[in-house]
Amino acid sequence: MKNKVIKLALIGFGNVGRALAKLLVRKKKWLGKRGLDLSVTYVISRKGGVYDLEGIDLDNLVSFVSTGQRLSEYSHGGTPDLSFDLMIKRGDFDTLFEMSPTDTETGDPARYHITSALERGKNVITANKGPILLKYAELKELADSKGVFLGIGCTTGGSLPSITAGIYDLAGAEILSIEGILNGTTNYILNLMENEGLSYENALKATQDTGLAESDPSKDVGGWDTATKLIILSNALMNSDLSLDDIQVKGIQGITPKDIQDAAKKGKRYKLIGKAEKIKGTVKASVTLQTIGSDNFLFGIEGSGKAVLYQTDIFGELLVASSASGPGYAAASLLRDLINNVK
Ligand SMILES: NC(=O)c1ccc[n+]([C@@H]2O[C@H](COP(=O)([O-])OP(=O)(O)OC[C@H]3O[C@@H](n4cnc5c(N)ncnc54)[C@H](OP(=O)(O)O)[C@@H]3O)[C@@H](O)[C@H]2O)c1
Repeated sequence: MKNKVIKLALIGFGNVGRALAKLLVRKKKWLGKRGLDLSVTYVISRKGGVYDLEGIDLDNLVSFVSTGQRLSEYSHGGTPDLSFDLMIKRGDFDTLFEMSPTDTETGDPARYHITSALERGKNVITANKGPILLKYAELKELADSKGVFLGIGCTTGGSLPSITAGIYDLAGAEILSIEGILNGTTNYILNLMENEGLSYENALKATQDTGLAESDPSKDVGGWDTATKLIILSNALMNSDLSLDDIQVKGIQGITPKDIQDAAKKGKRYKLIGKAEKIKGTVKASVTLQTIGSDNFLFGIEGSGKAVLYQTDIFGELLVASSASGPGYAAASLLRDLINNVK
């Protein structure tokens, strides 16, 4: 019997969107053997996009945009008039991948994209932290009411199975605390200072030179990216209703090589830790730069690695850790959500 074809729409075709396209090509046979025949019918960016109901040739499209040309100039279905609203009106797709830039203040445009697709009864899988930080409960309720899937596995550490471990592997448990190294950039900077004795400023510059830190690194080094991921985890897995205003956030700026050396003499390491904890039934959360010893599971997380440690009532402690970071791994996480949840 032939597999049902699942039609996909990609919104955002930057680093993650292109990495997802390449992954779908690479895994096509593997997916087909497991009953998943996927066909991308829409790829939309800020100005126009590509539509092909027979399935867009993703290999060709990635090569085309890699030369600097716009989606709207693509000869097989590219047009400047193709908009998200038109796509929603037509409705000829099953699952939306939302991969537009994150805005943690308004959540838009992703919030609008996700809400519209869910209202239309479409599955949504997103890489975008903004709307999930601000409106997860509302969006999840909408998805449930429409009987569709909202995948957020990529929003809390790319390929790190943090949300998915919380949902599937800790099923039945009450999560008592979530403690994590959730930002690879800051862990990398701290590692450089530790291993090479660099000042904070030089370590930041070196991290920017590798492409890991952005030219405006304030969200990472200020602890806000960690706070965002921590809140998403806590709201999704501990049933809290936290916003960025509710938590104390301290980043890594101001740390000196001497601080790091003094900690090392005591067998300790500085780590930027986000922690959400149930205290008398209420979840309290914070992001702090702190020293931890080798008795803490997070002690050994190196380089741009990330990890989350869960304390639970029935499973004890669970650590998930990953050294992977970057668009390819984010794409793998998006595909994982699809494979596990969309039929
Ligand atoms: N990069 C990573 O490793 C990573 C990891 C995990 C999660 N994420 C998240 O994944 C998302 C995408 O990241 P990225 O690195 O791929 O970003 P990016 O390279 O900046 O790409 C963003 C894409 O979104 C498009 N876009 C912008 N505004 C849009 C709109 N209103 N409607 C439709 N498309 C729009 C852009 O189109 P134009 O080219 O026309 O501007 C571009 O194609 C972000 O939310 C990010 O936080 C990224």
